[in-house]
Amino acid sequence: MNPAHPPNRSSSQLQISGAIVLNASHSTYVWDGIWGGDIYSLPLERKQRAAKRAAALQLFENIGTHESVLDIGCGSADLLSILFDSRDKNGGMLVGLERSGTALDLAAKRNGDSDVYLVSGDATKLPFGDDSFDNVLLFGVMEHISDSHVVLSEARRVLRSSGRVFITSSNAMSALQLKNFALDRVGRYRYGYQKNWTRKSLVRLVEQFFDVEEQFVLQCDADMPLVLAIDSLIGKIFSGWGRYICIRAKRC
Ligand SMILES: C[S@@+](CC[C@H](N)C(=O)[O-])C[C@H]1O[C@@H](n2cnc3c(N)ncnc32)[C@H](O)[C@@H]1O
Repeated sequence: MNPAHPPNRSSSQLQISGAIVLNASHSTYVWDGIWGGDIYSLPLERKQRAAKRAAALQLFENIGTHESVLDIGCGSADLLSILFDSRDKNGGMLVGLERSGTALDLAAKRNGDSDVYLVSGDATKLPFGDDSFDNVLLFGVMEHISDSHVVLSEARRVLRSSGRVFITSSNAMSALQLKNFALDRVGRYRYGYQKNWTRKSLVRLVEQFFDVEEQFVLQCDADMPLVLAIDSLIGKIFSGWGRYICIRAKRC
């Protein structure tokens, strides 16, 4: 199968509107620099972010402890570490795939004593065979890769039949993105390429590859108090408003 195209779907169907792109023409890979010293890589930030991702997973439902998990764009693998600690030693295989060598160094330190496998690679060309995993996580990663449809196609390819993909992605409809959009306008948005979908547009994209089973919007935590206050207020009026879009979908 050509991984860029799922069966029975033409590439013209892959055009999706309803997204805001920051740093649209940016082609430099920025993540080694971010993991090497940006506030994003600080231990407290990493801990809070991993806890938020773990909370999203629990809202979907916990992954069975005997099921294998591939975390694509795992960063410093703090989430995999949480998953590892929550399992017994006979649990399914946990694998983190990451393009940034700096992130992988952090991940190796974090997971030194555990059986989390860390793999250097690209989400658009996964170094795994077809039907390899029970679950694939795409947490905060799809929005940073311009070939997002290829990422979904690859996730689908490596999933076993009836396997599930769990996605969290930054929501275009959040006060944070209004701020990021303003920074981008003055050339000061520093996290490279970023595409922020609305919930509807992301669901439409994911539906081209998977059967969407569950979708919801998650607010941020009190570490971003202003964003939390504004998003919670607007979210009472518009149900698609909030920090993260969360989707669980099944390989069809
Ligand atoms: C916003 S971070 C999210 C990290 C982690 N999933 C988390 O939830 O904290 C995005 C990650 O995706 C990784 N990434 C970006 N493009 C990638 C690619 N083409 N293949 C693999 N990883 C990639 C970056 O290096 C970065 O670690």
